[in-house]
Amino acid sequence: MRILVLGSGAREHAIIAALLAEGGHEITAAPGNAGIAAEVETVRVDIKHPDLVAEFAADGGFDLVVIGPEAPLVAGVADALRKAGVPAFGPTKAAAAIEGSKSFAKDVMARAGVPTGTDSIARSLDDVRAALDASAPPWVLKADGLAAGKGVIVTDDRAAAEAHAEAFLPDGPLLIEEYLAGPEVSLFVITDGVHAVPLAPAQDFKRLGDGDTGPNTGGMGAYSPLPWLAGRFGSEAAFVDEVVRTVALPTIKAMADAGTPFVGLLYCGLIVTDDGVKVIEFNARFGDPETQVVLPRIESGLADVLLAAANGSLDTAPPLRWKDSAAVTVVLASEGYPGDPITGRRITGVDEAMALEGVQVLHAATGAGELGLTATGGRVLNVVGTGATIAEARERAYAGLGRIGLEGGQARTDIAARA
Ligand code: AMP
Ligand code: GLY
Repeated sequence: MRILVLGSGAREHAIIAALLAEGGHEITAAPGNAGIAAEVETVRVDIKHPDLVAEFAADGGFDLVVIGPEAPLVAGVADALRKAGVPAFGPTKAAAAIEGSKSFAKDVMARAGVPTGTDSIARSLDDVRAALDASAPPWVLKADGLAAGKGVIVTDDRAAAEAHAEAFLPDGPLLIEEYLAGPEVSLFVITDGVHAVPLAPAQDFKRLGDGDTGPNTGGMGAYSPLPWLAGRFGSEAAFVDEVVRTVALPTIKAMADAGTPFVGLLYCGLIVTDDGVKVIEFNARFGDPETQVVLPRIESGLADVLLAAANGSLDTAPPLRWKDSAAVTVVLASEGYPGDPITGRRITGVDEAMALEGVQVLHAATGAGELGLTATGGRVLNVVGTGATIAEARERAYAGLGRIGLEGGQARTDIAARA
């Protein structure tokens, strides 16, 4: 298959690595990064420009376009590709609102009867204060629109909650949401708008520091599978079945009923509460860094399933085949992340890390310059370890990380430690 992958992070590097491992595909990335460019052809196309992408994909004769990040989805790139007759894995602009607008997502969940926390909408500081008065801490405040992961605060500190509201109210309303206690799980569900194919569950580590301390980030690590789910649900498969039945399928149906069918990857962000599994968010795309631990576990069938989803024939696609393996990823971030990362510093040891058994280094924000490989953003690399068990995968990921040098680099030391 000739496949165009849009995006430039470790998520896109993981998608490309999985397709390459499957074999038989010709892959182009736009725009990619230094790590991706070492493996496949990369092109400079403005991926947020729907007409440019559609023209490039149609002229290039691509069989499938996989859209990685949310920005091109929200810009309407999938709409333009479909109009140009190119199969696109990713929802339309209208359907991507399930990620872009928290209140839209809450409306869909209400119509679909999907379990989630209660919430209220605040349009002014007075509304916020009234909602805080009416509930006990910890408080959860979410900016309604896309805020690059910075729109959410979970806090016991009343002043911090009000300050967050003041910062985000000028951009639109806020949701004040019921606090849900329990472990988080990310479940990716591939859909053609009607049918659903779940991938393996993963857990993401959102806080910067060990022991889940410090600020929220885009994600500092992840692992899959989640052995502890068996204790609660009998098996991981039983958990996945329950989420598909109570969350994914009702949501997919509600989206179709509303005239905005969702085609692509429905990312179900879940909390396993004492009261059952509840949704904290949907995303309209593969999660980052969870993709980096889910896709290496697929043996074969990924491209066929993505294409079948894009073409509306997921029910006829051959089933995905999975390896009996575990994967752990640890993110290496620049000094200053998630605030103002210091960029331009040299990265060493990537080849040494890659030479280790069961270690893969996926690039998130790298460039190849006169200094060799340099960091160009906040999250720089993902070191992925795979193995027979989580313990082995974890050991390999950290052994790989140990070979890599980046002045001021930040990484958690406790990813998957308790799994
Ligand atoms: P989100 O951007 O919606 O994924 O939220 C970022 C993080 O805030 C999540 O990964 C959770 O750790 C936390 N969070 C979000 N919503 C809730 C909630 N209702 N209850 C508890 N924690 C939450
Ligand atoms: N890992 C969280 C996200 O992709 O939004």
